[in-house]
Amino acid sequence: MTNFWSIWIIVLSSVVIIGCIFLLRACSKNDTGVEEGKSMGHSFDGIEELNNPLPKWWSYMFYITIVFSVIYLALYPGMGSFKGLLGWTSSNQSVRTLEESKTAVQDALKEGRWVQYDQEVIHADEKFGPIFKAYADTPLEELVNNKEALKVGGRLFLQNCAMCHGSDARGSKGFPNLTDGAWLYGGELETIKTSIMNGRHGMMPPKGGLPIEDSELPGLAEYVVKLSGREHDAALAAQGQGSFMKGCFACHGMDGTGNKFMGAPNLTDNAWLYGGSRGAIQQSIKNGRSGVMPAWKDVLGEEKVHVISAYVYSLSNK
Ligand code: HEC
Ligand code: HEC
Repeated sequence: MTNFWSIWIIVLSSVVIIGCIFLLRACSKNDTGVEEGKSMGHSFDGIEELNNPLPKWWSYMFYITIVFSVIYLALYPGMGSFKGLLGWTSSNQSVRTLEESKTAVQDALKEGRWVQYDQEVIHADEKFGPIFKAYADTPLEELVNNKEALKVGGRLFLQNCAMCHGSDARGSKGFPNLTDGAWLYGGELETIKTSIMNGRHGMMPPKGGLPIEDSELPGLAEYVVKLSGREHDAALAAQGQGSFMKGCFACHGMDGTGNKFMGAPNLTDNAWLYGGSRGAIQQSIKNGRSGVMPAWKDVLGEEKVHVISAYVYSLSNK
């Protein structure tokens, strides 16, 4: 805010408050020359105007509001660029990384500033910390049978994961479906937890980094369609198989069932990360694909990831 607008707001707010005080005092004085409760000498259709004072309760309410506004303006930001005595802000808005956020929280505590969001997080950690601690001490194999824990995991999923994997965890193009039992990296409890803790980066270079001509793409796509067990053009697929043997198998396996260590998808299960149409498959092969799953260990901490892992596992293991 420029100085001009800051001063403008300070002057305007002060004038309004002081104006209210004067108005109230002026209206409370009886300077009409008529005794209280007596007629002012006006009559409208037989209704007489009496000289009644402002009701006491009403004037007191008004004074209380004025006092409230002065205290409020002193404590909270509201007077131009004056930050308020509490050092209140809604959040640490300038932070860009988790590290910055952690230092910002510490700085605020040290300087005695009141950052509302931090306070709420600290409060929530105090309240829910012991619960997460108890869950964290429960082995995943047991946790998947704990209905309460799964409910908590589901809520954490909605808050942190739904924007990519969908609120029903069924994913969308480029974001894997977590409910169908088809796993890029594996569906064992510990593997799911590793995926979430450390993140994943599936990397297929354009054409798998292999010497493949654009003219071979339709054949390759047809062969991939064949692998997934759908109707196909046998002659074209046979051509494609030749191209596949140039090196696709190095990642996707000789039989096309994929490789969970590098997240190379199983091409035979008819579950698609980027779409199973011939066109989408050609796109995947021609341009390569590079899906990134962020790491959560620093954002949520292991205790929460533990609970979410149980929830994600439960989605495909009823
Ligand atoms: C920014 C988008 C994004 C967010 C947010 C996100 N994910 Fe992911 N996730 C992905 C992508 C993309 C992949 C696939 C990575 C790849 O292609 O190698 C993935 C993969 C995974 C996998 C591995 C799936 C498999 O088939 O092996 C799991 C498990 C997972 N995510 C769970 C979660 C959970 C739990 C959260 C919330 C804490 C979450 N994800 C948040 C994008 C996201
Ligand atoms: C270096 C290892 C590697 C090679 C070589 C490779 N791929 Fe891939 N491929 C991957 C990975 C990893 C993914 C998943 C990318 C992601 O998670 O974003 C993938 C994804 C795909 C997909 C998308 C699958 C889906 O579910 O949507 C298709 C189709 C595919 N590869 C076919 C091929 C073909 C055909 C070849 C040979 C020309 C090939 N790949 C070579 C690693 C490889």
